[in-house]
Order: sequence, then structure tokens, then C-alpha cells
Amino acid sequence: MRALPLLLLPFLATPAPADEAALAKGRAFTEANCARCHAVGSTDHSPNPRSIPFRFVARLYPIDYLAEALAEGIAVSHEMPEFVLEADEIEPLLLYLDSIQVR
Ligand code: HEC
Repeated sequence: MRALPLLLLPFLATPAPADEAALAKGRAFTEANCARCHAVGSTDHSPNPRSIPFRFVARLYPIDYLAEALAEGIAVSHEMPEFVLEADEIEPLLLYLDSIQVR
């Protein structure tokens, strides 16, 4: 990690550089698989109005709770297709979701 002035540290919301690749992967995954219904960014609207914008998911439950659901097959309603994710997809996805949360 780069050396940063100590004063800046409390305000840092950006991840360590090592996480950038994982974040990009997580974002790409949501864009490819979820964005046709859910808002996946910081300001966009869900194309399907019944789909919660991802930046508010943490208001439903802690992001970590999603890990299990995603691994076993998330099936929340008839409307949403069932997804079963691999471990190497889940981690970047959760990291990305965490990075955009409006709490
Ligand atoms: C075809 C549209 C569609 C797609 C694609 C889709 N979703 Fe959804 N999703 C929905 C709808 C509609 C709801 C609200 C369901 C409800 O409340 O019954 C929802 C709800 C959710 C919820 C909240 C669950 C809860 O307990 O309320 C999560 C988390 C979620 N989706 C994650 C995802 C992820 C991750 C992806 C991509 C891998 C995805 N969704 C792709 C339509 C979709």
C-alpha cells in the first residue's frame, strides 16, 4: 500500500490497490448478471422497479449473509432467476456490494 498522510486515513473509503481487481470483477459480474433488473451502481435506478438497488442491500441484512445464499442458490422470488455462484465469484461480488452501500 502507498504511504498516505495520516490525516487522510479516517476519510479513506477507497480500497487498497490489491482489492481493485476484485472490485472490478465484482462489478463486472453484477453488470453481466444482475443489472438488467437491479441498479448496480451508486446512483442508477433499477430497470425493474421491484428489484432493490444493490447499494441498499445492506439495509435488508448484512452483506455477509448473502455469501451462503449465493453459494447454495439464491432464489428470492419467481421473478428473479436462481443463481448459483462459485466461491471465486462470490468474494468479489460481496466486496463490490460492500463498496457501494449507502447505509
Ligand atoms: C430478472 C430480474 C432479476 C435479475 C436478473 C436479478 N434479480 Fe435480484 N431481485 C429481483 C426482484 C424482482 C427482487 C425482489 C424480489 C422480492 O422481493 O420478491 C430481487 C431481490 C434480490 C435481493 C433481495 C433479496 C431479499 O431477501 O429481499 C437480492 C440480494 C438480489 N435480488 C440479488 C441479485 C443478484 C446478486 C443478482 C445477479 C447475480 C440478481 N439479484 C439478479 C429481480 C432480479
